[in-house]
Amino acid sequence: MAKKVGVLTGGGDCPGLNPAIRGAVMRGLDFGYEMVGLVEGWRGLMEMKTTPLSLEVVDGIISQGGTILGSSRTNPFKSEDTAKVAGENFKKLGLDALIAIGGDDTLGAANKLFKAGFNTVGVPKTMDNDLSCTDYTFGFDSAVSVAVDAIDRLRDTARSHRRIIVVEVMGRHAGWVALWSGIASDADWILIPEVPADMNAMCAHLKGLGNRGKQWGIVVVSEGVVLDPNQADGIEKDDFGNIAHLAGQDLAKTIADYVKQATGIDTRHAVLGHIVRGGSPTIFDRVLGTRVGVKAAEMVEAGDWGKMAALQGNDVVAVPLDKAVGVSKTVPPELYDLAKIFFK
Ligand code: F6P
Repeated sequence: MAKKVGVLTGGGDCPGLNPAIRGAVMRGLDFGYEMVGLVEGWRGLMEMKTTPLSLEVVDGIISQGGTILGSSRTNPFKSEDTAKVAGENFKKLGLDALIAIGGDDTLGAANKLFKAGFNTVGVPKTMDNDLSCTDYTFGFDSAVSVAVDAIDRLRDTARSHRRIIVVEVMGRHAGWVALWSGIASDADWILIPEVPADMNAMCAHLKGLGNRGKQWGIVVVSEGVVLDPNQADGIEKDDFGNIAHLAGQDLAKTIADYVKQATGIDTRHAVLGHIVRGGSPTIFDRVLGTRVGVKAAEMVEAGDWGKMAALQGNDVVAVPLDKAVGVSKTVPPELYDLAKIFFK
């Protein structure tokens, strides 16, 4: 009988998920597997909601943003009871293996399932690019590309009106999205969670731009920047204990108000939010999603359980989930130093 292999996408969606699903399914079909999608991430396992993943279903999805399987932030290991249901349903669905595509939370759950004795492999994804043991995750390049396009537009209007515009981007507690989009869009200052915000130095610099005839500026800030240690108090958490809506803290507005007050320059703010998570994946993300999806199916064939398909250098390799989950990959100081060269 054909092996039955489940595929799910969990956590925040991002461009590249459909190429990864397609890669896993196409390679799985080579091995004669019956491929089946679990609908809406781990919720699909908890509620036994599945959908067939045939060649016809995945054909042509490489250019589509989002995920054809749907996603959720359901945590199957929220309690002992839910963990038990997850294991039981794995058996009831007759799954021989599961490919879990997701970020730290989804892959953490996949690792627990593996440790509970179930055949599981992981595929890393996140627009935040904060997963350890992989150089890049798909979703990041697409998100940064959209952010840079938006910042280029904001720069036009900032220049016309002689304004400063503070642009907030997502990225959770890692500054990759802010740093990459700030460097690529010639930002005048970038604020990331890894580096304490020096508001005085930033405002002095922004004010000083006028000395070289530049009366406008762009500041890119990551949603994870902490100005006030109490700013997250009382904020709703998700199933995995993360702040449910980091972007809902008025960070960009707070910074814009501060800049206006400190510099006397008219200042506006824009929160890009989920806009950067939609749209067609970039070529980089289509190819990376495809490669890691294919690798995941090959890991199933090899019985390489409890690992994820990671990009290291130019190779896609299997690395233990144990090493990858639980430790966030943050921006190293030397990359922020690179950005600072351009704060002139
Ligand atoms: O982890 C991806 C991400 O887009 C983060 O950058 C952001 O903080 C979070 O998801 C937003 O989550 P949600 O879509 O649940 O609002």
